[in-house]
Amino acid sequence: MLLNVDNITIMPDDSDKTITKNVTFSMEEEEVHALIGPNGSGKSSIAYAIMGLKAYLPAQGKIIFKGKDITYASITERAKMGITLAWQEPVRFEGITIAEYLEIVAKNREESAKVLKLVNLDANKYLDRKCDNTLSGGERKRVEIAAAVAMNPKLLMLDEPDAGLDIIAYGELSSMLKKIKEETGASILIITHREETGGIADYASLMWDGQVIASGEFKEIMERYCLMARGEKKCMIEPCPKISFKARKQSV
Ligand SMILES: Nc1ncnc2c1ncn2[C@@H]1O[C@H](COP(=O)(O)OP(=O)(O)O)[C@@H](O)[C@H]1O
Ligand SMILES: [Mg+2]
Repeated sequence: MLLNVDNITIMPDDSDKTITKNVTFSMEEEEVHALIGPNGSGKSSIAYAIMGLKAYLPAQGKIIFKGKDITYASITERAKMGITLAWQEPVRFEGITIAEYLEIVAKNREESAKVLKLVNLDANKYLDRKCDNTLSGGERKRVEIAAAVAMNPKLLMLDEPDAGLDIIAYGELSSMLKKIKEETGASILIITHREETGGIADYASLMWDGQVIASGEFKEIMERYCLMARGEKKCMIEPCPKISFKARKQSV
């Protein structure tokens, strides 16, 4: 087992609101797992809890990564263990170049060029460009993913890489993630609420109103999500704890 999110409840420390309740799901090594759900269902909050952001530390439950309890580990410890996140809203750094930004984590310029290639950006054109709003939304997302990849991740979390100002085409995203997986051996947790992205994922968990209501084969989970998103009551009144992982490889 790579990641085991076990029954976590998140109440951000600056509010008395419970934003996720008893969330449980798991990922095996080398798995691509999609966390699906509508806006506001708690997907990003789960990624923040796995990343260790202080406001999102679970009020209850555990996060186990490679057999180690990391529920309250620092962000640095988690980064060292290979947990990375490409944010939903990529950060902009006025005044520094993409090369300088990537070299915070990449070993050198050559390594930076390599990760840019993985996200389909030409290093010759991009390394010396400024990491600011002269980049399009899509370009910034790619740079953000490249920086996460440069950290040599074991678990790469991507928060809605398919959304934003300038969407990365779904087909391209899918081939990009396959390449990243092959090159780095990382497991990928992809957060999305778009059906089209799913071609990449083996398994999925469905979040609804702060809870994971089903986990299993990507296709089944996406079908369930689409029915629920269309408001078909059958699915609303029958929350499905059914978990089917037909061909899931078990790793120790
Ligand atoms: N720090 C916070 N304080 C209070 N409420 C929050 C905080 N962070 C997120 N929320 C709320 O929790 C819910 C889930 O948010 P989020 O995890 O961003 O959902 P998603 O990523 O699925 O769109 C939303 O209603 C959001 O407004
Ligand atoms: Mg989000």
